[in-house]
Amino acid sequence: MLQKFDSRNANLLVYVNGAILPREEARISVLDSVVQGGDAVWEGLRLYKEGVYCLDRHMRRLMDSAHALDFQQIPSVESIVGALGETFRSNGMVSDVHVRLTLTRGEKLTSGMDPRLCDQGCGLIILAEWKPPVYDNESGITVFTSSIRRNGPEYLDSKIHHNNLLNNILAKTQANYAGCDAALMLDNRGFASELNGTNLFMIRDGIVYTPYAHHCLPGITRGRVIEICHKLGIPCQEKDISLTELYTADLVWATGTMGELTPIREIDGRKIANQAVARAMFDQIASAFVDSRSAYCTAV
Ligand SMILES: Cc1ncc(COP(=O)(O)O)c(C=O)c1O
Repeated sequence: MLQKFDSRNANLLVYVNGAILPREEARISVLDSVVQGGDAVWEGLRLYKEGVYCLDRHMRRLMDSAHALDFQQIPSVESIVGALGETFRSNGMVSDVHVRLTLTRGEKLTSGMDPRLCDQGCGLIILAEWKPPVYDNESGITVFTSSIRRNGPEYLDSKIHHNNLLNNILAKTQANYAGCDAALMLDNRGFASELNGTNLFMIRDGIVYTPYAHHCLPGITRGRVIEICHKLGIPCQEKDISLTELYTADLVWATGTMGELTPIREIDGRKIANQAVARAMFDQIASAFVDSRSAYCTAV
C-alpha cells in the first residue's frame, strides 16, 4: 500500500506560523526544533461534511503531549482551532480531508539540544490535504511483525504523540521489504502493541480484545471502538495479546483516523480466519462507527 499523489493537492494552501501560503512556499526555519530533534507533537485529524471528527479529544491529546514535553508559550486551543478553520476555508475544503497538524517547540536562538534555546514560543503547521481513507477497508491489509519494539514509558512514553517517529518508520521499512502493508510492533515483553501507525483489535469466541495502551498510542479511533462495543453490549477487554493469539484470532483489524477501521487479512503469512460470527460483529461495530460519526463532529 503506497499512497499516490492526488492532483487536487497540487495547489494546496498551508498554514505556517500565522501565514497561509502556497505549498511550495510553505517553509519553516532550519532552526526549528522539529528540524533539529524531531521536537514537536502532532495530530492527524479528519474533516467530514459535519465537521472535524473528535476535535476536542485531538486537541486534548495535543495539549497533553505539549505539556508533557514542557513546551513553553503553547497557543490556546481556540487559536489552533481558528487556524484550522482558516486553512479549510482558504482551500475550499468541506470533507474528504485529512489534516496533519504539527506543534513544534519552536525556533531556536542557535543550534543545540537545550529546550531553553526555543525562546520565541511554539511553531504551528497545518497541512490539510484531500485524502479519503488510505487503506482498502473491503479486502483488508497484510501485516509483517517487525523486530523494532514500540516505545513504552521506560523510554519515551507512547502516550506522548511526538514526532520522533523513527522506531515506527524503521518498522514500516521492514514491512515494505517483506511486501506487506503495515508493521506489527511488539512491546518490550513480546506482546503485540500496535501497527506502525494504527491500533489493533481482535475477536476470539465473541469477545473483542485490544492491547493495553502501555506501549501504544491511546488512539482516538481505538477509544471510540471500545465505547461502541460497550454501547452495543459486545464484550471488549484490554489484554496482553501474543502473536499466536493474533494468528489464531477469528478476526483482526486496525483503527486510526487515517484509515478508519481496516480488516487485517494476513499476519506473517498466516491467513486470519475472518470467521463468519466475528465478521458479523465487526460489521456491526463498523456500521455503528459510521452511524454515530456526525454526533462526534465539530464544525470549525
Ligand atoms: C502510532 C500510531 N498509532 C495509532 C494511531 C491512531 O490514532 P488515532 O485513532 O487517534 O488516529 C496513530 C495516529 O496518529 C499513530 O501514529
